[in-house]
Amino acid sequence: MDGNGRWAQQRGLPRIEGHRVGADSVRDVTRASRELGIQALTLYAFSSQNWARPADEVAGLMDLLRDYLLSERSEIMDNGIRLFAIGDVDKLPPRVTEPLHALLADSAANRGMILTLALSYGGRESITRAIRALARDVAAGLLPAESIDLDRISAYLPTHELPPLDLLIRTSGEQRVSNFLLWEIAYAELMFIDTPWPDFRRAQLHECLAQYGGRERRFGLTSQQLSDADV
Ligand code: IPE
Ligand code: MG
Repeated sequence: MDGNGRWAQQRGLPRIEGHRVGADSVRDVTRASRELGIQALTLYAFSSQNWARPADEVAGLMDLLRDYLLSERSEIMDNGIRLFAIGDVDKLPPRVTEPLHALLADSAANRGMILTLALSYGGRESITRAIRALARDVAAGLLPAESIDLDRISAYLPTHELPPLDLLIRTSGEQRVSNFLLWEIAYAELMFIDTPWPDFRRAQLHECLAQYGGRERRFGLTSQQLSDADV
């Protein structure tokens, strides 16, 4: 979800205004995703690296996150959404972790769309943590080193309960991944669109999904193999 700050600055507004309007995009895109029957939506809300931003911007983002968790509670519970968080959430201040942990627990039995917030999240940090846990288990004799394969590594990542990642959308024209879901994007479709996040609403999501539908995902196979497998 990129481009909040620039969106605001172009309008002569403080950056936090961009984040505030961006939270409205979160609400609209989440609702549209659920209505479309998308199984899982993961939002990169705050990266491990975002902690280094000016303290007032970080504090403003934390306030917005708290407001979001409090205001979306009924939308999440009424619609059977399961909230999930990935990242180093213990680094977040108590005013965020309190409503976060409450909603994570209360929505855990919901069976609708999985809404994952990536908070204090970094893809390399996640992989590092997974390797550390794996090494610990191998050292403790719980696991032979030979058993480490792709599935085993995936199982140690915080995304292991999510379905495979199909589509990654980055807004605001930047064409980079910025430490998001590095392992998980292996065969995801990547989409870089110019619209800044505060202007990204359900109409833009529909456009992305239409484009996604036109792509051929080959997973390393040939087009011919895929059409043979269809018949
Ligand atoms: C993304 O918008 C939101 C967060 C990182 C929380 P930015 O704040 O990165 O906006 P730009 O890139 O400065 O425009
Ligand atoms: Mg940015």
